[in-house]
Amino acid sequence: MSVVHLNGDYLAKDEAKVSVDERGFLFADGVYEVTPAYGGRLFRWPQHLERIQKGLAALRIDFDAAALEGVKYELLARNGLDKASAAYVYVQVTRGAAPRMHAFPDPPVAPGVYAFANPYHRPSTERWEQGFRAVTVPDQRWARADIKAIALLPNVMAQQAAVDAGVSNAIFVRDGMAMEGAHNNLFVVAGGVLATAPKSNYILHGVTRDFVIGLAGDLGIPVEERAIPLPELFAADEVFFTGTTTEIKPAVAVDGRQIGDGRPGPVARRLFAAFIEAVGG
Ligand SMILES: Cc1ncc(COP(=O)(O)O)c(C=O)c1O
Repeated sequence: MSVVHLNGDYLAKDEAKVSVDERGFLFADGVYEVTPAYGGRLFRWPQHLERIQKGLAALRIDFDAAALEGVKYELLARNGLDKASAAYVYVQVTRGAAPRMHAFPDPPVAPGVYAFANPYHRPSTERWEQGFRAVTVPDQRWARADIKAIALLPNVMAQQAAVDAGVSNAIFVRDGMAMEGAHNNLFVVAGGVLATAPKSNYILHGVTRDFVIGLAGDLGIPVEERAIPLPELFAADEVFFTGTTTEIKPAVAVDGRQIGDGRPGPVARRLFAAFIEAVGG
């Protein structure tokens, strides 16, 4: 039985209960963060912290997320993951429990904090080498996709569309542009140049996205942060996704159309090798 954190307590998951007045339950009124831990060390925690702080500020939830670092390490330890080669810690902060009213509780109530840790299982080399397939879906999210809100219904519907199509990823398309995956960012490669959608309110500013852009810089691979029209996605030499529980995953077909030669390409391969080295295998 895993141990989770709920509002200051560490409990067996079965014992963790929330109020039916919890605004996360009623309104999806909160934010979350998923932070990887390699060899028991949180990876890029300051970047994850900065993003959740920005999300909390945008939603006007008064909570100092810096304290979550200790919670994350405690969860890794209590779940035997403090030496795990790869794991992740999920944390969400909601506006708290109060009788159902749309406007914020007045006076404010204590935010709800829930966190858990799980091992991360990277796909085998054989699986990675097969590549992954994706479908495109209309991007029907609100205009603040940069906030990592727990309100993920469009992402849930998109990912289910992928599952229904027998593939593993969905790509959001807004106004003819490929934006990002349902739970990861998207890169295309053409003529040796990487491109990914620019940071805006329409995509999540992925920590892995930034890290991979840095790795590309180290490897001398040019990167353009710009809009990606759908025809460019289909014509790309390579397509890949990045994210905390994605790391780097090559897409070898989108909407049943083969990408490049239908196998993971050299740029994704180089970046993934550099990524694995950076996180310590
Ligand atoms: C919609 C979306 N885009 C991108 C990402 C990747 O972000 P990160 O690299 O910070 O995990 C995620 C991660 O959950 C996501 O949900």
